[in-house]
Amino acid sequence: MTELTWQRRHVISLSDFTPNDYETVLQTAVSFLEVLSRRNKKVPTLQSKVVANLFFESSTRTRNSFELAAKRLSADTLNFAPGTSSLSKGETILDTARTFLAMGTDIMVIRHQAAGVPLAIAQDMDTLSGKVAILNAGDGKHEHPSQALLDLLTFCMYLNPTTPTAKDLKGKKVAIVGDILHSRVARSNLWSLLTNGADVHLAAPPTLLPPEFAEYGAKIHYSLEPALEDADFVMTLRLQMERMGQFLIPSLREYHAKYGITRDRLAKCAPNVQVLHPGPVNRGVEISSDLMDDPRLSLIDRQVTNGVAIRMSLLYLLGTAI
Ligand code: NCD
Repeated sequence: MTELTWQRRHVISLSDFTPNDYETVLQTAVSFLEVLSRRNKKVPTLQSKVVANLFFESSTRTRNSFELAAKRLSADTLNFAPGTSSLSKGETILDTARTFLAMGTDIMVIRHQAAGVPLAIAQDMDTLSGKVAILNAGDGKHEHPSQALLDLLTFCMYLNPTTPTAKDLKGKKVAIVGDILHSRVARSNLWSLLTNGADVHLAAPPTLLPPEFAEYGAKIHYSLEPALEDADFVMTLRLQMERMGQFLIPSLREYHAKYGITRDRLAKCAPNVQVLHPGPVNRGVEISSDLMDDPRLSLIDRQVTNGVAIRMSLLYLLGTAI
């Protein structure tokens, strides 16, 4: 196996991730999955480091997953929610970050509704300290790197449960279905899947799927059937109403009828097809409720479990590099 190396101080985007970066994050996560299967799930790796979760936008999975990951690594964690902070008194985002820096924060995990905020904070922190690591936990419709990395771990663990590597994904057909236009999950996954050699098919109504995605090497479909045909994995995405300036589909019922993933529709896929969803799910819209709960066809719970190991991996790689 090639030597695993790590040079990054921030993880803002996967657009420049190399095959080696993916493999390093993946193999480190696999070793943390082993730690998480023990009776004592805690390791002292990040003892006395401070991890601050700065979530300017709401989140259930990602925020708790990062917090648990930091705690499993024995880091001290700080949490921030905009409603109960000095942001409501007019403090700027950069001043908030500077406050956490002054407290000795080593890693800032940042989620914001506007694209570009984690990068802006990283640039500001670099001018001030050069020691703080920034991890993007989702910025607007730009990117959500830790989600795509946990998806990568989930694909590879399913394909090769004992010795997963990123190379297992080569040539596998992955269909991403849903609101791609507003999805940072789709954007980060696109980089990860294409770099790791998957055959990526995107399917959505034309209002939710800009043709530019074809320029990166994904195949674009405005109907489900060709995307699902022989697919090894189907990733469904939520309709992100909060990011739609206007209603971009005729009705939820019609959307489900045309693009909803159901057990019947999976008949066209490869025999061992598995369904993924980053959550939160709108049951009965992008995916039928019974399919979501079927452990033979759905990897949704695995994604959540793998998310903790991936975030431990990222915090470990960034936290030991600073
Ligand atoms: C996604 C997000 O917030 O970007 N969810 C997540 O992090 N698990 C997707 C979504 O909001 O639909």
